[in-house]
Amino acid sequence: MCGIVGYIGKADATSVLINGLRRLEYRGYDSAGVAIMDDGRIAIAKSPGKVAALNDRARAEWPAERFSRATTGIAHTRWATHGPPTEVNAHPHLDQSGDIALVHNGIIENYRALRSRLEAKGHLFLSETDTEVLAHLIGDCHKGDLFQAICDALHQVEGTFGIAVLSARDPHRIITARRGSPIVIGVGEGETIIASDASAILSHTQRVIYLDDNDIAIVTADSIEIRDLHNVPVTREIAELGLDAEAAEKGGFDHFMLKEIHEQPDCLANAIRGRLDHSLGTSVLAGTGTSPRDLAEISRVVLVGCGTSLHAGLVGEYAFEDLADVHSEVQQAAEFRYRNPILGSRDLVVAISQSGETADTLAAVREANQKGAFVMSLCNVVGSTIARETGRGVYLHAGPEISVASTKAFTCQVAVLLMMALKLGRGRRFSREDGIRFAREIESLPSLVARVVDQSDSIATIAATYQKNEHAFFIGRGPMYPVALEGALKLKEISYLHAEGYHAAELKHGPIALLQPGTPVIALACDIPGKDKTLGNIEECRARGARILGIITEGDHEAAEFMDDFITIPRAHPLIATIPAVVALQLFAYHVARLRGCEIDQPRNLAKSVTVE
Ligand code: F6R
Repeated sequence: MCGIVGYIGKADATSVLINGLRRLEYRGYDSAGVAIMDDGRIAIAKSPGKVAALNDRARAEWPAERFSRATTGIAHTRWATHGPPTEVNAHPHLDQSGDIALVHNGIIENYRALRSRLEAKGHLFLSETDTEVLAHLIGDCHKGDLFQAICDALHQVEGTFGIAVLSARDPHRIITARRGSPIVIGVGEGETIIASDASAILSHTQRVIYLDDNDIAIVTADSIEIRDLHNVPVTREIAELGLDAEAAEKGGFDHFMLKEIHEQPDCLANAIRGRLDHSLGTSVLAGTGTSPRDLAEISRVVLVGCGTSLHAGLVGEYAFEDLADVHSEVQQAAEFRYRNPILGSRDLVVAISQSGETADTLAAVREANQKGAFVMSLCNVVGSTIARETGRGVYLHAGPEISVASTKAFTCQVAVLLMMALKLGRGRRFSREDGIRFAREIESLPSLVARVVDQSDSIATIAATYQKNEHAFFIGRGPMYPVALEGALKLKEISYLHAEGYHAAELKHGPIALLQPGTPVIALACDIPGKDKTLGNIEECRARGARILGIITEGDHEAAEFMDDFITIPRAHPLIATIPAVVALQLFAYHVARLRGCEIDQPRNLAKSVTVE
């Protein structure tokens, strides 16, 4: 969603800020803006649309020396919430005096009440945003000390924020704070970079400080002082990012999504490395902080997440029941805290989130903690809020996922869930031999996935047949049912084709009414238990003229007979096969979207990290 960059140092701040915003483009946004400290005054440029448009606007509106001489500034990409994506609604926003500029991620929930109060005092607002209200509130609280003014203002605010503030009255520092929206501070040599996401910092330094909720930091080119909102100093450790700047580049691929699909064999190898004990037939997941006794106590596994992460949880549900004989269920994170979940100390709640910042998943973690459940997380972004708040869990090690459509995070999430289920299973029904066999299957995942990735060109040829359709149905059963849901989500979000995932048996309970001659049905018909029933469901679709694209097991000539087109995946255990199967659907969605000329990495209306409810 929205992105923040702040810079104070010796370099040309405008270029640093705009390059930083480019690094955050993947998060999804619809307008952008920058404020720099120019000769003791704040200069602002804003634009609807892309960061490139902002760059053009700043160059057109500012004299060349202004563009390049500033060494301090803040910048923002906005994903519209309050008011459309116009220039006037874009950040930075100024206070009434025009001396204080603010960029903000999150939502000020009581902004209407604050705005009325300020209007009664004579404040004039230019935009429809909640952020401008906060800028004015800070200005209103300013009695000579910017830090104190920000503290006083933030005490009056309900909601979430990650902010960076620049003041012409205090030109040699930037103040940044967070509650509910991440802020990372890059500690460079004679320069400091503030960002909502480490991707904007990577090319400057690997040394970062993550702010905690209610931290407020005074940042100069060579110092960072952190306090809480009551002005009490707090200490935050410097962490190493351990990320390669190249990981956030396209590396010769046309799109990040295609690159990330191709990276999956390596990502899976990283997610698995050192985590399987082949002699005991189990997994070793150090970060979970669980003893065999803790695991034996668990009576239920509750998996929470949103979107693609929710679908990974649905595969996990099958795995926990199948491998570990433990009652397991998946709950939508968005609903979790509103439905009074029944939880206790023997319930293991696993929060699944690539970004580790999804507002609903974070709220579910807090609810589960409140209820005394045993909570852990499965995140990709190291140091993210969910990872830090749960304090225990497993990192995916998938590397930065830049494409808005999640691919490698999903496959690594499933791989880690399978390892978790294996571990739990070994304490219960799984024998050592069963465990050794399953561990070997997990170990083979990178090569199984590589065999699907290698089919990219032939999948592109198949995609050409389907790209003109406006609707598609994905069907599967057992652990392939969540794969059908995920395949439909991938297709709709990047190709804007209407796609729905159903349990294969569910079609005839209603959706089959929509089938017409030529309607695509993408069937997960791999050779796993239930295949014959799925083939029966395919017959029902064929009888209505649907065009069938099957995902089938290599060498399964019987299944091939049922299909108009098919993509093969290697033979594997049904749970393991979910991963190569989803990779086939990722490639299918990618090629359909490419042929339809869609903006694949940043689909319309979507954001990479959904930090609002
Ligand atoms: C779809 C997609 C989203 C995310 C969802 C949760 O491709 O990426 O559905 O899966 O927004 O995000 P995380 O996993 O960051 O919590």
